[in-house]
Amino acid sequence: MSTATSAAAGWTNPLRDPRDKRLPRIAGPCSLVIFGVTGDLSRKKLMPAIYDLANRGLLPPGFALTGFARRDWADQDFGQVVYNAVKEHARTPFRQHVWDRLAEGFRFVSGSFDDDDAFDRLEETVQALDRERGTAGNHAFYLSIPPGAFPVVLKQLARSGLAKQDGQGWRRVVIEKPFGHDLKSAIELNEIVNDVFPEDSVFRIDHYLGKETVQNILALRFANQLFEPIWNSHYVDSVQITMAEDIGLGGRAGYYDGIGAARDVIQNHLLQLLAFTAMEEPVSFSSNELRIEKIKILNATKLIGPLDETTARGQYTGGWQGGEKVKGLTEEEGFDPNSRTETFAAITCEVDTRRWAGVPFYLRTGKRLGRRVTEIAVIFKRAPHLPFDATMTEELGQNAFVIRVQPDEGVTMRFGSKVPGSQMEVRDVSMDFGYGSAFTEASPEAYERLILDVLLGEPSLFPVNAEVERSWEILDPVIDHWTRQEKGPDPYPAGSWGPESAGAMLARTGRNWRRP
Ligand code: BG6
Repeated sequence: MSTATSAAAGWTNPLRDPRDKRLPRIAGPCSLVIFGVTGDLSRKKLMPAIYDLANRGLLPPGFALTGFARRDWADQDFGQVVYNAVKEHARTPFRQHVWDRLAEGFRFVSGSFDDDDAFDRLEETVQALDRERGTAGNHAFYLSIPPGAFPVVLKQLARSGLAKQDGQGWRRVVIEKPFGHDLKSAIELNEIVNDVFPEDSVFRIDHYLGKETVQNILALRFANQLFEPIWNSHYVDSVQITMAEDIGLGGRAGYYDGIGAARDVIQNHLLQLLAFTAMEEPVSFSSNELRIEKIKILNATKLIGPLDETTARGQYTGGWQGGEKVKGLTEEEGFDPNSRTETFAAITCEVDTRRWAGVPFYLRTGKRLGRRVTEIAVIFKRAPHLPFDATMTEELGQNAFVIRVQPDEGVTMRFGSKVPGSQMEVRDVSMDFGYGSAFTEASPEAYERLILDVLLGEPSLFPVNAEVERSWEILDPVIDHWTRQEKGPDPYPAGSWGPESAGAMLARTGRNWRRP
């Protein structure tokens, strides 16, 4: 064992007293290898997040970042790509000395995924890092690549010995969604992954779980006494989970055409938000206990039918959005002009537990909607009796508790209040908590938190394969139903809030979508 390796094997972070959970968690000696470094995700999210972690002092001194791609680049060329990405997208200020130190650990290996030589070179590079940078045999492999390439890369990692945990260090794999396109393909994919990496070394990214506001759902629910007594079907009428985006799909045809909004967002982000909203309190916050509760709630989650009436799907057409003329999906570059891919999807679920029986959970997502917003709205039943006459309460809606996931992160509570004056008139008012005004520290990007957790081996915020498979099991009947229908998705104009069928879906139950 080299000196660097032996020192690192028993490494404890000198800055961290394990009893003090408030101290920053700093990763031990390790490196990260990224496959797919030329992609958008790498440039816009991963590289900036790594720099931001370094800038916050959360990476170990000898940290190394290796890029793998087909380009004919030297280490310095790769460094330049990372530099540009950091300059353009990093969250924290650029500091030359942080950058210089980080850049010393950059390596690049050129090759394609079916090239044995390239993977052998990668294995030599990683060995050399252990000697030169003291990375102690600890390496994570980030697959930021199209899902079709997962099997070949995993096989190469196994063949070249890169996936082998030899007792001196850890090997972990990070997988970006989509994890399959239905239950069957997800099971196949999980088998391939688990053939090479044991489940506790697999980190599946659902970047929503890295968001502060999503973790705050658990803080709100389980650190307070205020909400628990009313968080159930006695008081809650319905829950609406919305993830709306104003952007279109120009440039993303390769990934999106044939996939659609339900697979892209509902199967992962929205079902995870549902699980956080509906789950029981875990015995502790250990990753295992958290997963037990999440899996329990996903197992109890079912679709409400008939699907013709309880789901809706749409596709945006061209028009004017925010003063700009935008294209419809079928005119976007690379999309099939006859594409039936939905860009808006809404479904209705119920959670079959004592707490939630009878409460519908409405999940919706879409592109080119009115504005970018993600929120969870818990809508309460009306008061059983109002001792006011109807004209005094005309403007009174239902009470609501809204977790604003993004962009204006915070919480809104809506309730009725007396309008000043001699009449007893009651009208809706809102009370707000905003992260921006309550805390001085800005929220880290989801990817900072998740990459750090991978390097720390902290799995709480990563869905396990049981969650992924169960989520497909919930969604598959909807996709099958839509595929069997003769007609495609309903059109909706860019900048609107989705197709009319989405409104009708709620109107049938006497409800309306909340306008975020
Ligand atoms: C990704 C989806 O998972 O999330 C994209 O594939 C979507 O289609 C993105 O645009 C949205 O992420 P965020 O963090 O901006 O809400």
